[in-house]
Amino acid sequence: MLVSENISEIRKRRWLKNGETWGLVPTMGFLHKGHLSLVRQAQQENDAVCVSIFVNPIQFNRKQDFDTYPVDMKKDLALLEKEGVDLVWTPKADQLYPRNFQTYVDVTQITQFLEGAARPGHFRGVTTIVAILFNVFQPTRAYFGQKDAQQVAVIRRMVEDLLFNLTIKTCPTMREADGLAMSSRNTNLTEDAREQAPVLYQTLAEARRLMEEGEESAVKIKQFMQEKIEQTSLALIDYISVADPVTLQELETIQGEALISLAVFFGEVRLIDNVVFSRNTQ
Ligand code: PAJ
Repeated sequence: MLVSENISEIRKRRWLKNGETWGLVPTMGFLHKGHLSLVRQAQQENDAVCVSIFVNPIQFNRKQDFDTYPVDMKKDLALLEKEGVDLVWTPKADQLYPRNFQTYVDVTQITQFLEGAARPGHFRGVTTIVAILFNVFQPTRAYFGQKDAQQVAVIRRMVEDLLFNLTIKTCPTMREADGLAMSSRNTNLTEDAREQAPVLYQTLAEARRLMEEGEESAVKIKQFMQEKIEQTSLALIDYISVADPVTLQELETIQGEALISLAVFFGEVRLIDNVVFSRNTQ
């Protein structure tokens, strides 16, 4: 496994063998099984896999979140070595964002809702770094988690709009045994909050079941979800949404597909999760 922060070295390895297909898994490190599931899917579908590890300063809208973002490079590299990853790219901020940096990628519409509304500037930071990673590495395929549903939707939009020559793959959300979506933020939950946090997935799953049983009113579904989460003493709702999975516009009536998503605070820790409902796949 080659580990490098050097852009020319990364490019050299990428193009060493003619016709070799490469999967890229962009991450911010502090890896867990959710990240590793992306790596495994990438390995199945490509000749070689690169994982990038970079805590991207420009996607944090609160400096405190960036300053406290967990880092454990030694453990990350050991996990990736064990997975048989070919290349780990560990760029440094002053390489990617030199002093005169002033070029950003901005997806203008679907970034206005949900996470975009709650975290101004966040997606501009995400699309800018992902565009830089794609430009440097030019992967055949790039892998993202459904856990961050809006992030994948925004990146798909960017790839289509800017004609990036690669395929975006979305991988299912990995969960703990009690349903809590795996996240580096889970380690910051207090013991009590950790005990209560599975209510998020339980609520999403129940909302989806109501839809499967024929409920078409998004208002009623959201009301049900709100009541259930408000019964959880440590939970504070940021948003609850039933939206079109592509445009991310809030739905009134659920007909085809719906993205059911939420963001909830447990103390200082903000958790997000989602499930997709599709009437056709029943
Ligand atoms: P990060 O939070 O490290 O996540 C890296 C990738 O892992 C993302 O595509 C995310 O959706 C996926 N992921 C996280 N938890 C998951 C889970 N429980 N199951 C499946 N996949 C999961 O997302 C980012 O980093 C950054 O925004 C990035 C895209 C790297 C740009 O900086």
